[in-house]
Amino acid sequence: WNALDDMVLAGKTVLTRVDINVPVKDGTVTDDTRITRIVPTVRDILARGGKPVLLAHFDRPKGRVVPEMSLRVTLPALEAALGQPVRFAEGGFKDAVAAMQPGEVLLLENIRFFPGEEKNDPAFALELADLADIYCNDAFSAAHRAHASTEGVAHLLPSCAGRSMEAELRALEAALGNPARPVVAVVGGAKVSTKLDLLSNLIEKVDTLVIGGGMANTFLAAQGIDVAKSLCEHDLADTARAIMAKAATTGCEIILPTDVVVAESFAAHTDHTTVAATAVPPGTMILDAGAQTLERIVTAFEGAKTLIWNGPLGAFEIPPFDHATVAAARAAADLTEAGRLVSVAGGGDTVSALNQAHAADRFTYVSTAGGAFLEWMEGKTLPGVAALDRGV
Ligand code: 3PG
Repeated sequence: WNALDDMVLAGKTVLTRVDINVPVKDGTVTDDTRITRIVPTVRDILARGGKPVLLAHFDRPKGRVVPEMSLRVTLPALEAALGQPVRFAEGGFKDAVAAMQPGEVLLLENIRFFPGEEKNDPAFALELADLADIYCNDAFSAAHRAHASTEGVAHLLPSCAGRSMEAELRALEAALGNPARPVVAVVGGAKVSTKLDLLSNLIEKVDTLVIGGGMANTFLAAQGIDVAKSLCEHDLADTARAIMAKAATTGCEIILPTDVVVAESFAAHTDHTTVAATAVPPGTMILDAGAQTLERIVTAFEGAKTLIWNGPLGAFEIPPFDHATVAAARAAADLTEAGRLVSVAGGGDTVSALNQAHAADRFTYVSTAGGAFLEWMEGKTLPGVAALDRGV
């Protein structure tokens, strides 16, 4: 793919696909991380004499105009991040683009209001391409969607990756493409069923795989351990055993909890105790990894050169069950700062957990992508990235 640096932008209209699908509450953006990530691309286009036309989706209006899903809500945050006014076009995109003056930024209304977007309708992609001279995709977190604005249009215009997309691809390549070994991966979260492809792919690629969170319970149960009231997908016992058998053949060490924090209910600061993973008392549930497990995880981090992380190690939303996640995140951040570890993390919950640990900005790279990060880790081709490779 081409980078923004490879393009001549002076006097050109640059259709820039961004992902500003941000959380909003009562009409206000509550987390502007995705908005701040696109600033370098927009500023660069402006500085080099280009006209940035921002193209984005918001929520899932499914091809209909849903006024509550207008991108207008992002304007104040976008203007604050860019430090300049941003024009907004509800419709009549062609005229709005034609009226742009040098130095101006234009945001187009939610592209998912148009039925052609998610269908990746060639005629709609052509309409989009007709708006500009160059296509720049800075929306890694939407690159797993083969839509007109993420995929179709890339075939119709000279295309490039924006700064944030470029940073993301380089960081991911460093973590899994050709990483410094040993590589340790942490996969946590509630369910094995949502991460089967991920586990299979990682087992082939990493030296150590830490399985945490609710999904670890399924693996413990598959070994015949009674996990009492814990979240567990008992029907996936065979699958879990197959994953462990595959790990044994590829030489991937799996770290599962050997001690766990249990409580009778999932509530903040409820009575809790640490027990061996093989001795979970009846009527209790596993809510976090114990101190011994945490120590093994940190030791694995210390022996690794690359860490890739998706999913929390425990029920981190409710203290004190955030302990293992927070402590492991801080250990990884310290090793990263000491220059001993390349650390890459992604996925919605993971980013919140790392923020909670004040560790996110000390990781080498934290992806703002949810689904796209997972699919990339699963070894899948992302249509939005592949289209840039095959671009005009
Ligand atoms: C995201 O929030 O992960 C991206 O913006 C993609 O959104 P989607 O899952 O609605 O396609």
